[in-house]
Amino acid sequence: MDATIVTLPGDGIGPEVVAEGVRALEAVAARFGHRFDIRPALLGGCAIDATGSPLPDETLQLARDADAVLLGAVGGPRWDRPDATVRPEQGILGIRKALGLFANLRPVSIHPRLIDAAPLRPERLIGVDLLVVRELTGGIYFGERRREQLPDGGERAVDECVYTTDEIVRIVRVAAAAARTRRGRVVSVDKANVLETSRLWRRVSSRVMADEFPDVRFEHMLVDSCAMHLLRRPADFDVIVTENMFGDILTDEAAMLAGSLGMLPSASLGTLHSSAGRPVGLYEPIHGSAPDIAGQGIANPMATALSVALLLRMSLGLAAEAAAVEAAVWAALDAGIVTADVAAPGAAPATTGVVGRAIAAHIAG
Ligand code: IPM
Ligand code: MG
Repeated sequence: MDATIVTLPGDGIGPEVVAEGVRALEAVAARFGHRFDIRPALLGGCAIDATGSPLPDETLQLARDADAVLLGAVGGPRWDRPDATVRPEQGILGIRKALGLFANLRPVSIHPRLIDAAPLRPERLIGVDLLVVRELTGGIYFGERRREQLPDGGERAVDECVYTTDEIVRIVRVAAAAARTRRGRVVSVDKANVLETSRLWRRVSSRVMADEFPDVRFEHMLVDSCAMHLLRRPADFDVIVTENMFGDILTDEAAMLAGSLGMLPSASLGTLHSSAGRPVGLYEPIHGSAPDIAGQGIANPMATALSVALLLRMSLGLAAEAAAVEAAVWAALDAGIVTADVAAPGAAPATTGVVGRAIAAHIAG
């Protein structure tokens, strides 16, 4: 097949891991006879430096016209001044919103080799296989923000959290449909004992589940309790659906179940479809730009490679190709070709490039 894939390497370790993602894509193209037109574009801090904007119009246009987008990470101390009015993160939030990518899927499972890399006791980790469905274009991330001077010389800052019925309905549907292909269970996470948005979330999600998904087992959980149960009994979870900020926080926590933040991919899907009728998605590792290790060649490219697998499966409909990439990542893990974040104690870690080349070589067969 012919497909156009826009890459947004971004900042920090983003370019290093995306380079390995592209290497995996090229290996897939060669092995399976596809033609991927890979077009890099600017997003985040590098885009601010080059154009003044964290999300240049050209990047957005390229992404809109693509079949899928592969993102690295954005941000870093260079652009982090508290008084800055343009910030790299506006690029990532802006592209999610502009492309209508309201559903962020973050699967978490643990490869047996990584059980020792995870901080939890091994017996807690057996059977962990969950999917967090994070609402991505609403909530406090996109509410009104303002800062006011107070007469006493202090300041007042406001971040508004907003959700509408429709926003809740569509994300709950994504989660419930996913549960039907998995173990048939959804936990909806909110803070309904405090927040009005959560009370609406609870009512709407209950109705959607009862009316449309009576076959899916459904329960509500408060976010603080969920944070605790994720550590106490992670294997009990199948699909978790939650609002934007709770999903951000819980997925960093859940990443620790997988041994490292460097292992977790994500897919963001929405309403945009390609001319072939497939969902245009944005795929990215859930880790950040990790400026402290940028440029050292030690970042783990596996989350990006696994994001490439999601891209192939969900936006291009290439299931065998996706499975080949995943198998290549597991093979590199089995062979102990891993970066420092997941290396066994005392074992020599491999560089980003060595891991990426091992993955590509395995894809090539
Ligand atoms: C994530 C990140 C982003 C978010 C940041 C970079 C804005 O933490 O994708 O989880 O909070 O959504
Ligand atoms: Mg995050």
